[in-house]
Amino acid sequence: MEQYLAPSLGPRLAGTLTGGFPVLVMAGLVITIDGPAASGKSTVAQRLAEKLDAAFLDTGAMYRAVTIAAKCAGVDMNDEQELLAVMEKSKFKFLAEADPCLRRRKLVPVETGMRAFVNGIDVTEQIRQPDITASARYIAAAPKVRAKLVQMQREFAARHKKVVTEGRDQGTVAFPDADMKFYLTAALPERARRRQAELRAKGCSQSLEQVRQAIEQRDKSDEHRTVGPLRPAGDAIILDTTNLSIDEVVGKALRYVKQKCLKK
Ligand code: DC
Repeated sequence: MEQYLAPSLGPRLAGTLTGGFPVLVMAGLVITIDGPAASGKSTVAQRLAEKLDAAFLDTGAMYRAVTIAAKCAGVDMNDEQELLAVMEKSKFKFLAEADPCLRRRKLVPVETGMRAFVNGIDVTEQIRQPDITASARYIAAAPKVRAKLVQMQREFAARHKKVVTEGRDQGTVAFPDADMKFYLTAALPERARRRQAELRAKGCSQSLEQVRQAIEQRDKSDEHRTVGPLRPAGDAIILDTTNLSIDEVVGKALRYVKQKCLKK
């Protein structure tokens, strides 16, 4: 498996934060944001990373990219050995919005999440299609595949001074010692409404009921798998985003980070 999680523009040395925040005492800062589908965690993580001048890691894009690689290879999605073999043979690349490579290659940064490549092919749009979303659960349920992805996530974090990472198991499995952990949640009807709007914006029309059912199904498989199940870490701050705007959630999260991780 060749993998490349491109380094972001994050500073290598301690420095002042953007937006007039105090100086960060840097022994490496890892902030995890976990939560169910459409809870707003990708947008919040990306904005928080921008505010903190930190690298952003969208781990869902990694699961989605492996899903597309496996589907293209036509392997049995229930066969972990076959999935591992596909991972070994494939070359994955993920670029965050702030990455200089994106600008060099004149690629448009994605609004939320990371730009993903499999064997040199840009799959950023395809990995968000409903069939890939639905099939990602096979990848998510394969323990050895998860272990490889967690390893890639830790390697990414090790290359950066500051990281905001989002997914399902970032605070529980990938980074149990993270400096700050958040768990974002929102009521199911609100998450369905948000996801439907997102899909509509991409020209994909699904009824609210269809979207709600798909999310409910994902919640179930995320919560009940034996490895890396979706659950808040014991020391995570739980933020219910149902009635909050993105700015309000980011503002709240920033205040927690400031209180806990930044020296006054
Ligand atoms: O966050 P997302 O919708 O892009 O996630 C895509 C899939 O990957 C979803 O089925 C959950 C899974 N996933 C996971 O199991 N662990 C993660 N850390 C991130 C995503």
